[in-house]
Amino acid sequence: MKTYKDLNTSPRILLGPGPSMVHPRVLRAMAHPLVGHLDPQFVNLMNEVQELLRFVFETENKMTFPISGTGSAGMETAVVNFVEPGDPVLVCVNGYFSERLCEMSLRYGADLTRLERPWGTVFTPEDIDNALKAKPAKVVMIVMAETSTGTLQPLEEISKIVHSHGALLLVDCVTSLGGIPVEIDKTEIDIAYSGTQKCLGCPPGLSPITVGARALEVLNHRKTKVPSWYFDLTAIQNYWGDERTYHHTAPISMCYGLREGLRLIYEEGLSERFSRHQENAEFFWDGLAKLGLEPVVPLEFRLPTLTTITVPEGVDAGKVSRQLLDEYNIEIAGGLGAFKGKVWRVGLMGYSSSKENIVLLLAALSRVLGK
Ligand SMILES: Cc1ncc(COP(=O)(O)O)c(C=O)c1O
Repeated sequence: MKTYKDLNTSPRILLGPGPSMVHPRVLRAMAHPLVGHLDPQFVNLMNEVQELLRFVFETENKMTFPISGTGSAGMETAVVNFVEPGDPVLVCVNGYFSERLCEMSLRYGADLTRLERPWGTVFTPEDIDNALKAKPAKVVMIVMAETSTGTLQPLEEISKIVHSHGALLLVDCVTSLGGIPVEIDKTEIDIAYSGTQKCLGCPPGLSPITVGARALEVLNHRKTKVPSWYFDLTAIQNYWGDERTYHHTAPISMCYGLREGLRLIYEEGLSERFSRHQENAEFFWDGLAKLGLEPVVPLEFRLPTLTTITVPEGVDAGKVSRQLLDEYNIEIAGGLGAFKGKVWRVGLMGYSSSKENIVLLLAALSRVLGK
């Protein structure tokens, strides 16, 4: 008879674009015995998860909860609820995940306009203003922290422009939430989603979403039914909101984990957490400079949570990543799409963002590169 051994994974140091490392307290929380998804204890936990999500998103939005599924589930929820067939949609395309927003919008029948900028650069408010003057849109979609390129997109001015044109602003916060400020209410972001496996320091599996009053108004006046049953925000709200009507069975253990991950952020403090991410990123960039390695993105728009590094001439990017994994148990990643073979991607997110991990990575990199 075939035998199957006990699961025995290596203790990897996860410094890629995600998943990032999970705090032991989150793992412990996830090992708690299950309660039912309508158990009063779970209902109380749902309230706390929503409160803590509002704290991290920095919003008062009532419609704030985790979608069951990874970051792409949040993305699909955002698109399917706010795009009806024929709706004009403007997607700001400068990386891999904005391409995914285009693909999803097209699948739900959007009249899509792509505003393109080279990978590794960001959009100016004038870019968006000119695009909306040329063709108005119902929704403008943009990625705040592009995990494929390492850019941080400033949003404050863009938000004003989008609203002056009467459009909704939909923002991908997958690689920003919990690592850098997203300030939903201050920036007046209408719809935002994220993922648990990056700066929130939990395993992949939930996708927090938040929807503001302006967007809710649009949702409530849809002409057509939301074509996805599972991702219909109004139906999911009936479970996470006051009614607590069964929609689908919540992933209980993941919700335990998310609550603990959020509780850790609450205890650390938002500004302390953002400073830790920024300071550790700067410490890493200093170390890279000493190794003669260069980040792709100029400092002004460089993301602290994910750094893209130019692969030096003649170095096999894949071989280096593989050696780091095999010999040092450290995971980093190569480039996607236009950046394939040209960059490494290093994530310093959540529990992964520590000086110890950075020193280890720099030491291992220097050996592997023979520096
Ligand atoms: C910016 C961004 N958006 C969306 C996603 C999709 O998330 P997931 O892979 O969890 O479905 C990712 C994943 O890396 C991402 O980095």
